[in-house]
Amino acid sequence: MMVRYRLMRSQDVPGVFKVDQACFLHNWTQDSYHAEIKNCLSNYIVAEADGEIIGFGGFWQVIDEAHITNIAVLEAYRQIGVGQSIMNAMLALAQEKGCVGMTLEVRGDNQPALNFYLKNKFTREGRRKDYYGLGMDAIIMWRYGLE
Ligand SMILES: CC(C)(COP(=O)(O)OP(=O)(O)OC[C@H]1O[C@@H](n2cnc3c(N)ncnc32)[C@H](O)[C@@H]1OP(=O)(O)O)[C@@H](O)C(=O)NCCC(=O)NCCS
Repeated sequence: MMVRYRLMRSQDVPGVFKVDQACFLHNWTQDSYHAEIKNCLSNYIVAEADGEIIGFGGFWQVIDEAHITNIAVLEAYRQIGVGQSIMNAMLALAQEKGCVGMTLEVRGDNQPALNFYLKNKFTREGRRKDYYGLGMDAIIMWRYGLE
């Protein structure tokens, strides 16, 4: 399977929305992804295979920090390196734009995602209680240095 990694365009929004709906409990709207394309702080990478969006990831650049908003891969395409390639593309883009660190929140019980970020040199730096609803805390993670 040939996978292309590139910046998100407005034509990608329906595909990105489909991935969002398949992968997250708290979903964004199509309009919010359209707004991301217009937002000059936003940077989104999509993974495309045979014309289908199979994954995506994005971050907001806040001064010299990259705040990850979402990263997801359709279940059928997980654990074959697609998420890692999206992360690599985001790290390269963030570095190119002058970012020196990257941060995110992840649900404390999302073990695949926690492993994914730990493998990518993120460390646990804090906790936001009930961030995703009662009893669902967020772990705040940081990666210092993007090289
Ligand atoms: C997190 C996610 C994006 C990873 O995507 P992926 O394409 O499966 O990841 P990769 O195949 O590139 O895996 C890279 C590393 O992540 C870790 N990882 C990925 N899936 C894992 C799993 N199910 N269990 C444990 N570790 C896992 C491993 O360390 C893996 O490295 P390895 O293959 O050398 O062991 C994917 O699981 C996903 O979409 N999850 C649902 C959405 C989500 O929770 N997003 C994060 C929100 S903060």
